[in-house]
Amino acid sequence: MKQILILGASGGIGAAMVAACRARGDQVTGLSRSGDGFDITDEASVAQHLAATGGPFDLVLVATGALEIAGAVPEKTIKGLSASAMLDQFALNTVGPALALSHAARLLPKDRAAVFAVLSARVGSIGDNAIGGWISYRSAKAGVNQVVRTAAIELARSHPQTACVALHPGTVQTPFTEKYLGRHPSVPAAEAADNLLQVMDGLTARDTGQFFDWAGKQVPW
Ligand SMILES: NC(=O)c1ccc[n+]([C@@H]2O[C@H](COP(=O)([O-])OP(=O)(O)OC[C@H]3O[C@@H](n4cnc5c(N)ncnc54)[C@H](OP(=O)(O)O)[C@@H]3O)[C@@H](O)[C@H]2O)c1
Repeated sequence: MKQILILGASGGIGAAMVAACRARGDQVTGLSRSGDGFDITDEASVAQHLAATGGPFDLVLVATGALEIAGAVPEKTIKGLSASAMLDQFALNTVGPALALSHAARLLPKDRAAVFAVLSARVGSIGDNAIGGWISYRSAKAGVNQVVRTAAIELARSHPQTACVALHPGTVQTPFTEKYLGRHPSVPAAEAADNLLQVMDGLTARDTGQFFDWAGKQVPW
């Protein structure tokens, strides 16, 4: 039985992950904005909630995030850029997971293997970007990839058995994608949770600082 912490436990993928872990007998702690007042963009909220959370955890998953914030839709081109919408993207999708990682040391065991994973997105890949668009969300996810990479290197010094990674969950049927799926192939959240769990179960410290998709394949930065 693993000890698991899910941040963003109310989300499509977060809730499916809580259910999948509980179904296999893991002990799951979930934190969410709507359920617990956990706001990952608010430093004091992150500090207070994570200080009050037990641990150590075998797995911490950051499953928070949004594509649309305060009604701002993803930009078709850079001409649609709004400074405040871009800053909102960075606050939630980059700074939020960074705040969680800055509290990670206390949450993770030093004497055994553990995983700290952040849900990023393939569209955050700079190397894989061939079509443009969605500049704020893409840039915020590229930013969180650097956050994960940097934190992984630092965490390896104190927690040599931890794998700290960014994950692309696939295209998943959640409130997040509702307006954007079109004919794009997608999977239900429960299937995405099972895929991600399989990837995270297979991670070792050798994988730390990397970016993987739902099938365990490395995504280019
Ligand atoms: N779905 C996809 O196809 C897809 C593809 C690539 C990457 N991703 C990534 O996967 C992650 C989860 O996506 P999802 O599809 O599960 O989205 P979702 O169903 O819309 O859930 C989003 C979650 O983020 C939480 N959240 C939003 N703002 C927050 C804040 N300020 N503080 C704390 N929590 C906050 C929400 O909490 P409340 O509801 O409690 O407010 C909710 O738990 C995101 O990072 C997304 O970028 C998703």
